[in-house]
Amino acid sequence: MSHIRKAVFPVAGMGTRFLPATKSIPKEMLPLVDRPLIQYAVDEAREAGIEEFIFVSAAGKGALEDYFDTAAALEARLQASGKTEALAALGVTRMPEGALTILRQAQPLGLGHAVRQAKNLIGNEAFAVILPDDVIKGDRGALAQMVDAHRGVGGHMVAIMDVPRAQTSMYGILDVKDEAGALARARGLVEKPRSDLAPSTKAVIGRYILDSAILDRLDTLRPGAGGELQLTDAINADVKSVGVTGYMFEGQRFDCGSVQGYVQATAAFALSRADLCEEYSAFIDRSRKRLRLVA
Ligand code: UTP
Repeated sequence: MSHIRKAVFPVAGMGTRFLPATKSIPKEMLPLVDRPLIQYAVDEAREAGIEEFIFVSAAGKGALEDYFDTAAALEARLQASGKTEALAALGVTRMPEGALTILRQAQPLGLGHAVRQAKNLIGNEAFAVILPDDVIKGDRGALAQMVDAHRGVGGHMVAIMDVPRAQTSMYGILDVKDEAGALARARGLVEKPRSDLAPSTKAVIGRYILDSAILDRLDTLRPGAGGELQLTDAINADVKSVGVTGYMFEGQRFDCGSVQGYVQATAAFALSRADLCEEYSAFIDRSRKRLRLVA
């Protein structure tokens, strides 16, 4: 049984990089092939043993909230017309009774502020945070890997991956004290450092296991970069008191909060589907040839 039972899904961001689509569709509802981003995140949490799912949502995200609701009329229609495959496809959207709680973040005041909304629901236990726009593709879910590693380490744990030095200013970066296998103990975390000032190239990715102490820390934290309450700053402030470990997960990460990352993820997931792969890759080849001819 997992010792991490609760996961927070901050889904209140505005998704401005996906405008105009996100004018009326929550970013987390953009599909990779035929499943929305939020489905991949929830599946990864289930695989890690999560039992309580806490969405920190916002106004205008109704489609996301409805997605995990029952759709009685649709199900009855599919049943009546014998569309059993389509009906079965809805199975992944069902949550056990009481397992999903949806909170509202009144204003987008940052990731730290979003996580803080869940304080009363978390209580005194360690919990996970999953950012659905970071999609990690691999044989085993990244959060399940982290839950296993966290058992022996405790404290705060953040998913990390190596990035090119030129890109450190896009991430929270770990200042590494020492490393052992997939684990890197942190001396600190720096939010979006310039490449020449970055203490390492180990970037924090959107999976966290946090000691509940972070919630008190967020209460007293001042706004950081962009005037937002930064989760990275709160974790950094806990380095001495709680301890912070980076976990180098196995898997391929896609930044689906960016158009480039999203398009690449779509291709990767389509190519790994037996029913789509052959025709899709032939189409890509044909398209590239046509472009070369035009150029
Ligand atoms: P991003 O930095 O990707 O911001 O948030 P965003 O608003 O979603 O997207 P852009 O930059 O405008 O395109 C990282 C994660 O934190 C959540 C987002 O929903 C996303 O999962 N978040 C961010 C909140 O829940 N609340 C906030 O106030 C800010």
